[in-house]
Amino acid sequence: MTAREAGHPIRPLSSGRPKLTVIGTGYLGATHAASMAELGFEVLGVDVDPVKIDALSRGELPFYEPGLSELLRKHTGAGRLRFTTSMEEAGVFGDVHFIAVGTPQKAGETSADMSYVTAAVSAIAAAATRNSLIVGKSTVPVGSARALNALAQQHKRQGVRIEFAWNPEFLREGFAVEDTLRPDRLVVGTDSPEADRLLREVYADALSRDTPFILTDFETAELVKVAANAFLATKISFINAFSEVTETVGGDIRTLADAIGYDARIGRRFLNAGVGFGGGCLPKDIRALQARIGELGLERTMSFLDEVDKINLRRRDRVVHLVEELLGDMNGKRIAVLGTSFKPDSDDVRDSPALDIAGRLYTAGAEVCVFDPKANENSAKRFPRLDYVDSTEAAVSNADVVLLLTEWRTFKDMKPGDIEDLVKHRRIIDGRNVLNRVDWENAGWTFRALGLKVPGRLADVS
Ligand code: UGA
Repeated sequence: MTAREAGHPIRPLSSGRPKLTVIGTGYLGATHAASMAELGFEVLGVDVDPVKIDALSRGELPFYEPGLSELLRKHTGAGRLRFTTSMEEAGVFGDVHFIAVGTPQKAGETSADMSYVTAAVSAIAAAATRNSLIVGKSTVPVGSARALNALAQQHKRQGVRIEFAWNPEFLREGFAVEDTLRPDRLVVGTDSPEADRLLREVYADALSRDTPFILTDFETAELVKVAANAFLATKISFINAFSEVTETVGGDIRTLADAIGYDARIGRRFLNAGVGFGGGCLPKDIRALQARIGELGLERTMSFLDEVDKINLRRRDRVVHLVEELLGDMNGKRIAVLGTSFKPDSDDVRDSPALDIAGRLYTAGAEVCVFDPKANENSAKRFPRLDYVDSTEAAVSNADVVLLLTEWRTFKDMKPGDIEDLVKHRRIIDGRNVLNRVDWENAGWTFRALGLKVPGRLADVS
């Protein structure tokens, strides 16, 4: 860096606030772009997919996320939020470039595919026509940010100064807008005072509410993200491991979770026993973390995550076994699956336990009738042979067994009387522990749940 470059702080071309670009417009990027526009910034979203960019430019969200459509329409309408496929345009436009592209699990491997992040960082560094800041938000293996910074410095234009920071994102699907506008903490890994200054400007709204701002190095910032997701996954598998115990000895898994959850050191959240975790983050993040730690020669350090993963996947087997116990031969049997998204208030079916179970039951010979309030379309892309319908009533019609696999409000609120005249047999499996067993049993249903001992089937412990 020359003395002249170093002396120039990053300043917007026009007076006022820094202009932002967000590279990658999936769940993370689209939410970040629209939320930053809501906070008053001019934002340019960038993606290589022209179909997605066309839709977003028209104010149409290509996926479901509560509250996001409204923000998108509002700010594309007002011109504060625009979208492009042109990295050159982004390089001219932005003072701060957020990298929000995916780091999916590599096909046939457990490590993260870094190719999209690498491509995005090199491209924006090469396209930036003036001093600017690149901020990584994607979830990456530890050590990536330092290497990506070096890559950005290699690709930048002569006379242009590029600052670099890693700023992991903790938003949850279903609450993405709220989590972005009102984060519970901000973590920034950088060695650049200029990056620190700019990001405090970008996040001024949250900082005005005393949101913790954790300024640290690249490695800590990267690790905070994967440590948080690994902890959450472990917490879910912890309670699900106890489900296996209560399924054998008896006991009530929900009461157990409530009782330990009252201890503030433990906390009740993420102790809901059920079919386990899925989605585009927790499963692949624990696998990528293990892979990365293995590369560092510390295989044993994170080996417990292997068990966390296995406990999680065994929950899906358990549901299939419960169905087999109830139905015997599955050929010709009709199974109603309520919910296929990986969690409620989302249309995301990536690594969804519910959809995986539905597919396995179909493969075992059953006729599987599915209803998800938002995820039918995405589910059909992965499992076109399931029978997709538009209501709970249609799904349960003539069913030999009903499976509640994603706890959408409409399924949680379901009462036996709503569907009892529609099914062929009154049998239900509560895969999320959200129904009142007594109500269903009193109404004559055979009721099964994860964590619940099957009466008369498993040996009593004396
Ligand atoms: C997760 C993290 O919660 C976010 O903080 C993080 O930013 C995000 O990953 C990410 O890395 O981008 P998300 O994937 O939206 O967010 O979903 P969660 O709410 O964490 O749920 C994950 C899975 O765990 C779902 O399948 C859910 O049904 C399951 N779960 C959750 C349980 O089985 N039991 C629980 O008690 C809680």
